[in-house]
Amino acid sequence: MYSEKVMDHFQNPRNVGEIENASGVGTVGNAKCGDIMRIYLDIDDNKVIQDVKFKTFGCGAAVATSSMATELVKGKTVQEALEVTNKAVMEALDGLPPVKVHCSLLAEEAIHAALWDYAEKNGIKIEGLEKPKTDISEEEEEEEY
Ligand code: FES
Repeated sequence: MYSEKVMDHFQNPRNVGEIENASGVGTVGNAKCGDIMRIYLDIDDNKVIQDVKFKTFGCGAAVATSSMATELVKGKTVQEALEVTNKAVMEALDGLPPVKVHCSLLAEEAIHAALWDYAEKNGIKIEGLEKPKTDISEEEEEEEY
């Protein structure tokens, strides 16, 4: 059911933890399953993501996608990090079963929320970044399980 990469990132998740005094922190929840993800970003003066950590209270697919998402954004600029969509994360993991696709949205949303927090703290605007939704229940309701 799961690819080897998903199993690997689930069993050995990368970048688990917290960053003290992080440049940006984003917490998002999946209203349907109640799972929660928090991402911490450490961003330098050149707007490059130097470090990233995450905490996920969620299913295996949520853990694996958060782990892969943190690997993908590390070393990128904030602008490049916006391109790390849930699709990109799923591709990097060699796919997810259809019923688990929504779990990968948590990682994308959490990164966006952390970038938004960073932008607000620094009074800057990140082009293409939209204010994160705190409640994603409407989208979820249209999906079938
Ligand atoms: Fe909730 Fe996967 S079932 S995030």
